[in-house]
This record gives sequence, C-alpha cells and structure tokens, in this order.
Amino acid sequence: MAYIFNLHLLSLFLSFTFAIATFSTRDAAVLLRVKNTQLEDPDGFLNDWDDSITPCNWTTITCNNHTLDIVSIDFSDFGSLAGPFPADFCRIPTLRYLSIGNNCFNGSISPASFSLCSHVTFLNLSSNYFVGKLPEFQPRFVNLTVLDVSYNNFTGEIPASIGESLLLQVMNFSANLLSGALPESLTNLTELTTFLAPENPSLSGRLPENIGRLKKLETFRISNTQLSGEIPDSIGDLSSIKSIDLSTNSLTGGIPDSIGRLKSIEHLWLYDNKLSGELPDVFGNLTSLLQFDASLNDFTGKLPTSLAGLHLQSLAVNDNNLEGEIPTILSSNPMLTQLKLFRNKFSGGLPESLGENSDLEEFDVSDNQLQGPLPPNLCSKKKLQKFICFNNRFSGDFPVSCGDCKSIFYVRISNNELSGEIPSSFWSSSALQFIDVSNNKFRGSLPDSISRSKIIQGLVISGNGFSGDLPAGICRLEEIVEMDLRNNQFSGGLPPCLTNLKKLEKLNLQSNEFTGEIPNAVSSWTHLSSLNISNNKLSGVIPNEIGNLPSLNYLDLAGNSISGKIPDSLSHLKLNILNLSDNNLEGKIPTGLDSEVFASSLIGNPKLCSQDLKPFPRCHKTKSASYYVVAILSGLAFFLIVSLLWLLIKAKLLRRNTSLWKITSFQRVGFKEQDVLASLSESNVIGMGGSGKVYRVTLKTGQTVAVKKLYGVHRSPETESEFRSEMETLGLIRHKNIVKLLFASVGEDFRALVYEYMENGSLGDMLHVDPKGGYLLDWSKRFEIALGAAQGLAYLHHDCVPSIVHRDVKSNNILLDEELRPRVADFGLAKSLQIEVKESDGAMSRIAGSYGYIAPEYAYTMKVTEKCDVYSFGVVLMELVTGKRPNDASFDENKDIVKWVTEVALCGEGGWKDSDQLIDPKMNCSSHDYEEIGMVLNVALQCTSAFPLNRPSMRRVVELLKGQSSTPSK
Ligand SMILES: *[C@@H]1O[C@H](CO)[C@@H](O)[C@H](O)[C@H]1NC(C)=O
Ligand SMILES: *[C@@H]1O[C@H](CO)[C@@H](O)[C@H](O)[C@H]1NC(C)=O
Ligand SMILES: *[C@@H]1O[C@H](CO)[C@@H](O)[C@H](O)[C@H]1NC(C)=O
Repeated sequence: MAYIFNLHLLSLFLSFTFAIATFSTRDAAVLLRVKNTQLEDPDGFLNDWDDSITPCNWTTITCNNHTLDIVSIDFSDFGSLAGPFPADFCRIPTLRYLSIGNNCFNGSISPASFSLCSHVTFLNLSSNYFVGKLPEFQPRFVNLTVLDVSYNNFTGEIPASIGESLLLQVMNFSANLLSGALPESLTNLTELTTFLAPENPSLSGRLPENIGRLKKLETFRISNTQLSGEIPDSIGDLSSIKSIDLSTNSLTGGIPDSIGRLKSIEHLWLYDNKLSGELPDVFGNLTSLLQFDASLNDFTGKLPTSLAGLHLQSLAVNDNNLEGEIPTILSSNPMLTQLKLFRNKFSGGLPESLGENSDLEEFDVSDNQLQGPLPPNLCSKKKLQKFICFNNRFSGDFPVSCGDCKSIFYVRISNNELSGEIPSSFWSSSALQFIDVSNNKFRGSLPDSISRSKIIQGLVISGNGFSGDLPAGICRLEEIVEMDLRNNQFSGGLPPCLTNLKKLEKLNLQSNEFTGEIPNAVSSWTHLSSLNISNNKLSGVIPNEIGNLPSLNYLDLAGNSISGKIPDSLSHLKLNILNLSDNNLEGKIPTGLDSEVFASSLIGNPKLCSQDLKPFPRCHKTKSASYYVVAILSGLAFFLIVSLLWLLIKAKLLRRNTSLWKITSFQRVGFKEQDVLASLSESNVIGMGGSGKVYRVTLKTGQTVAVKKLYGVHRSPETESEFRSEMETLGLIRHKNIVKLLFASVGEDFRALVYEYMENGSLGDMLHVDPKGGYLLDWSKRFEIALGAAQGLAYLHHDCVPSIVHRDVKSNNILLDEELRPRVADFGLAKSLQIEVKESDGAMSRIAGSYGYIAPEYAYTMKVTEKCDVYSFGVVLMELVTGKRPNDASFDENKDIVKWVTEVALCGEGGWKDSDQLIDPKMNCSSHDYEEIGMVLNVALQCTSAFPLNRPSMRRVVELLKGQSSTPSK
C-alpha cells in the first residue's frame, strides 16, 4: 500500500503548494514535470507545452469545455516519443483518456505506477516497445472501457484482475508474447464487444467454458496462438457475435451444433486447427454468414447442404478429408466470389451453372476425384482470377467463358482429361501470369497474339497434343521465367529471338519435332538454369556461348542431330546434369569432360574420340616412326610395372585377409585401430542418429577420439552412401575449420569412422540446449565461429576440385574444440558436384538438409548447388545473433528465423539499433559489437535471399565478414 500512501502525500503536497492556483495550472505542472524528466521528444512535437498559455491549448491535450479540466492526453501516432510508461500523467485526477499508441515507449511497467491510472476509461499503449509482465489491474480499474496493449513485447499471463473492470468494452492484446491460458474471469465482462489476442505464440489452454456469457461480444479473435481443447458448447450463446477467428491453433473435437444459433455471425474462421468429425448440418439459420473457413483440419463426411446453400462470399474447406458430391445448391449463391475445395476427396461432377449467378473470382477444386465437364460459365461474370482444378478427372472442352476472360491471371488445370482447342483469345489475355494446362489432351497451336500476355511468368503446356510452329510472338513474353512445352508435337525451327527472354530460368522443349539450329546468341540467358531440348530433330552445332551461362546447371541436348565439336567451354559449367548423347558430335572430347563420370552423357556420338575414355575410340594423331619405338618401349615398361604391382598387391591382400577389418587411414595417428574399436561400449555413447551411434573413446595414449559406428545389421543404401560420401570427401580434406577424419574401418557387419574429438560439442547444442552455453559464447566468440565456419565452407566450394557441396549445413554440424574454434562436420550428405551427374535425373535420391535450413528453391528444383549451403549458412548466422532456433517456438506457425529476422530488420526504421529484439539477450555486447552484429545480420540477409543468384558466394561471405566490403562481388 506504499504507493497509495505516496499518492496521498503527493496530492497533499500539490494542493498545499498550489493552494491558490487553478486546477489547470496544477495539472500543467504535472504535465511539464513528466515531459521534462521522463519523456524523450526528439522531434519537438511538444514544444508548445509552455506555461504562458493554458494547457488546454497545448498539443495533445484536451480539456472539458466547461470546467477546463484536463481530460485527455493523446500522443498516438507521433512515432518518435519515447521513455518509460508516463504513469505520472495519471496523477491528473480528471484524466479519462490516455493514448500513447504507435511511439517508442519502452521498458516494463511496474504495478505501482500502473495503479495510478485506475481511474481512466481509455488506455492505449499499442505499438510501442514495452516488455515484461502485463501489470495487475489494481486497484480495480472500475471505469476502464477500452484497453489496447497490442503490438508490444509483453510477456506472462493476462492478469485475472482484468476481469474486474466490468465496464470494459474493447480489449486488444494482439501481437505480444503473452503465455498461459485466458483467465476465466474474462467471462465476467458482459459489456465486452471486442476481444482480440491473436499473434501471441505462447498463449495456450482452453477457451473459457462460459464464453457464452459475453452476450454483447461482436468480435472475437485469437488466432496464431496455441489454444487447445474443444470449442465449448456455450459459444452458441454469443448472441451478438459477428466475427470469430480461432484460426491457427490446436483446437480439437468437432464444431458444436450450437454454432447454428449464431444468427448474426458474418465471419467464421476455424482454419488450421485439429478439428475433426463431420461439419454439422446446422448452418441454415446463419443467414448473415459471409465467410466460412474450416480449411486445414481433419473434417470428414459431406459438405452440408445447409452450408452450401448460404449466401456466402467465401467458402473454404480445403485440406480436409471431405467426400461425396458438391451440393448443386452451391451454384445458386449470388454472392460467391471465393470457392476453395481443394485437397479433399470430393467426387462426382460440379454443378453445371457454377459461376452463372455470382462474381466468382477464385475457383480452386484441385486434388479431388471430380469428373465430368467443367462448368462452362465459370467466367461468365468476367471476374474470375484464379482457375484451378488440377489433379482431377475432368473431361470435355476448355470452359467457353474462360476463353475470353480478361480477368484470369492464374490457371492450373493440369492432370485432367480435358480436350479440344483452347481459344486463341485465351492465350492473348494481358492479365495472365501463370498457365499450367499440362497433361491433358488439348490440341491446336499457339497464336502469335500470345505476345499480348505481357506479364506471364510461367507457361506450362507439356504433355498435350499441341502442334505447329512456335510463333515469334513468344519472344515478347519478357517476364517469362519458366517455359515447358515438352511432350507435344510442335515443329519448325526455334525462333532465334527466343534468346530475348532474359528472365528465363527453365526452358523445356523435350520430345517435340523441332528442326533447325539451336539459337546462337544465348549469352543473354543469364538466369537460365535448366535447358532441355532433347529428343527433337535439331541440327547444327552447340553454340560456344552455352558454356559461359552463369546459372546453367542442367543441360540436355540428347537425341537430336547436333554435329560439330563439343565446345571446350562446356567443361566450365557446374552441371548437375549434362546429356549430349545420341547426336552427331565429333572430334576430341574436351579435357574437362573426358572422364568416366561423363561417359554416359556422351555416348551415342560415334564420331567422338577420347584420350582413354571407354567406349570412345582413341583420337588419332599423325605419328612418326620414333613414336612407335617409344610406344613399344613404354608398352614393355608398362607391362613390367603392372606385373610387379600385381605381385605386390597379391602379397598385401594375403596379409590383409588375416585382419578382421579393412582400414583406410587418412591422417597419421599414434594408435592402432584395434585399440579404438575394442573400447566401443554403451557407456561411452555420446550421440545417436538415424544411421548409427557416436562414441567418445579415450585411448591409452591419452588422446580422445570420436567414433561414428554405422549400424551394420540393417545396413541400408542410405547408410552405405553416407559412409562412402563421408569417407570419400572428408578423407581428402585438410582445413583448420573442417573436422579431421582420422580413419575409416570396414568390418564384416559394421562400418566405423574415427574423428578427432571436439571438446565442446556442437554449436547447436551450445546455443540451444546447454543452459550456460549462450552466456559462454560472447559476441567475439560467436563472430570467430561465424568466420571460421565460413572459411571452412568457402574451402569446400572454391578450393576443392571438384568442389564439394555440404548439403547439411546447420548449427548442429558445426563442432567446437576446447577453445571454441569451429570445425564443419558431418559429410554424410556431401556431394562433389561432378559425382552427382551419375544420379538418375539430377534430383537427389533423398532430401538433403535439415528442416529450417533448406533453401526455398530446393523444394521445387530438388537440386543442390553451393547456393543452398550459402542459404543454410545464413540461417546459422541468424542463430548466432539471435540465439533462437531456426524454427523457434516463439515464431508464428508459418514463420521461420529467416522470415522473422527479415521482417524485424525491415520494420526497424532506425536501422539495426532499433532491432535490439533480434539480439540474443544472453549475450553481453558493447556498442562496438552492435556495429559488427549489424554487419553480420546484413550478410545473413544476403545469404538467405530467396533468389540463389542474389546470394553471395562463400568466398565473398568470408570477405564480407572480414569487412573487406570494397572487393567486387562474385
Ligand atoms: C486558446 O486557443 C483559442 C483558439 O485557438 C484562443 O481563442 C484562446 O485565446 C487560447 N487561449 C489561451 C489562454 O491562449
Ligand atoms: C468542446 O468544444 C469544441 C470546439 O468548440 C467542440 O468541437 C467540442 O464538441 C466540444 N466538446 C464538448 C464535450 O462539448
Ligand atoms: C468512475 O466514473 C464515475 C462516473 O463518471 C465517477 O463518478 C467515478 O468517480 C469514477 N471512478 C473512478 C475511480 O474514477
């Protein structure tokens, strides 16, 4: 009660001092004192606070017109006002309204100072930088009607005492870090009209059982939190409710039947939960409902007729297990603009008149078992924008109305049985951005007027019966990124102007009947990563410029009649796939390609010759007589050497057979493998993975090593390939920032790899598991780790021949020695870029990388380049700065560290210093550190760019980290 006592003292003091002053000069003194001692006002917004005029005329102050008492202070949206919560303003007894929203106020709010404000009716602290627990609402905030604390970093629980502010009408807790359950006392607030608490990633528990007591509640939003349990039956008593948003939680159970009583509801969002059971057929009375979204749940059964018959603007039930037919009544809805039924098991046909009665904008029924014709009038109202129905069994013609539908920009109707011609007016619609009509039975040709689709980025029409010449108009699609025309019957020459398409990344013309030559001036294709023109009737030569394309990693020219020599430049490319087979290529195979790895890529060119690559004939040279003498002599010498070697090897093999293990030693070691293998016991296991166990073994010599023993009994191809990959790549590498493999040992039923032991475990454990780890790693240590790891990766990418991609860069694979120096480890997934060509179609046989570290483009290309490692390394940099895991629980469900850091970095207007929330609180850092942290975050952002091309190389990353920012990039 000390603060109440102080309050009394102060008011005694004030009334004594200003006994002869008016109320307003006394309050003016309070205002000025707070302004001068607590407020920061860098932009001088409050410069007119001057006691020569009445405070009623000061900026932000409002007085009662009659009594001239100060009733309101409104700082909202000034943006730059800062300081602690100015609770002392509340010492003005007549103050009713206090808003400091959207400024830079910060710090935590003590319950004592907060209690000064218990008489206000309106309190807005939103969009500031407050931290700490929400203060208790004591003494009772009897007159409070509006409370907004949204967009701060408040933690802890919502205080139950808020339930005593019985006049509350609006409460907004959005976007904080609040945790715990909603207090049951909330249900006392019967005047409440608006309750908002979305975006609090740790808010949990169940919805209050008696939520239905809030008879005046109109808006109820708690999305992106962790609510669990069932939706209480009493929800049906929310008789004034207009909007319910419980999306992205972990709610279970079904939708209670009582929902059918919410007569005034307009928006009902339940998506992304774990709700199950059938959708109840109780929607008939919800005539105000405009938007219903129950997508991303586990609902089963049919789409209720009572729901389909409402006049909804938006119906979304995608990503459930719904089945049966779509009720015909759906098509009579005059309001329907958005229909999302995708990823269910709906069957039967679609109502024929769908689209005739409403301004349909988005139509997505993909991934179902629907059949029959597509509704012909989907775009009869000329509003359709997204037309999506792929992966069904639709047949018949392209919908008439969609042929001349200028509003459509996104079309995905692949994998159906659609047939006939697509009207030429469709191709020339200027709004089109992406078309995928692949794997249907469409016929006809592409019109020259396709050039009017000026902004199209993707044209995927593969697997149909399209024919005719490629019109030159196709060269005017300047924004196009992907063009896939494979498996059609296109013929004629490739327009040379194709090389005008500067943004093209993927061009696939495979299996058509194209003739003529490959366009010559390809050097403009700087973004092209994949070029497949195999199985056509192309002739001419391979343009030399192809070898200089900076992004190309997939080149397939097989099965044509291409002649001439293979340009030397091709060996400069870092290709995942190279296929030149079955052409008429001739001459000497360029040195860079003259290796067994490429043999299958070159086969079927009878006129190619090689130094010694089978099955190609040797290249002829004009040879002199002396050549033959030398050749015979060296032949003899060769025979002798081979015989000798054979004898030696045989002797050695005989001796080997007496040993139990086959050992490959990579470094000089002062102990025997038997010593190591004999001491593997359960008591010294330090780690366990999918493929084996890791042991820590201290040898008699005192040296400690780490042993990874791969499971032998159930040895899978994966384990085997991990073992080989690790042996083949790591065994040959010597670098101070890469873990040393001492030797590998292959026994009858096991494989073991022996490494130097790293005293401090992994960086990941240090940062995220060890409670003291984060404190041990001060900024200078973290920076050294970042730089060391970057150097290790740069060595793999740029100094190894062929270069090596790690494919699983993450903090758990960066080990720390006794002095916390980093070594990159775990090469189980590593690939040398050339070996990869052997794999079936450039796609990796298994997912490479770890959740949270995988570069976005990998998801759709399934191809790994060095730039994927760069991305993962960027994630590690973010971990080092923030101390958070890549998928930390504090992020929203669909957010990861990259999105989070990017957002915070972009929103902090004052640069990095505004981004204190990014920096690991466990780290003590000086002001000098801030600059370096900012720099490292900048590098991390570049590394995690969504576009591989924009990511720096690892060599460049090292330069950037060392502060050599003036060196040109690449
Ligand atoms: C306050 O402002 C009003 C109108 O702007 C003016 O009429 C009045 O004289 C001012 N009062 C004082 C005390 O400055
Ligand atoms: C006070 O006066 C202002 C300006 O004269 C007017 O706009 C406002 O409505 C008045 N407020 C009250 C409560 O009378
Ligand atoms: C609450 O408002 C009423 C009516 O305006 C007023 O009489 C009462 O003093 C207020 N209570 C507090 C604690 O300010």
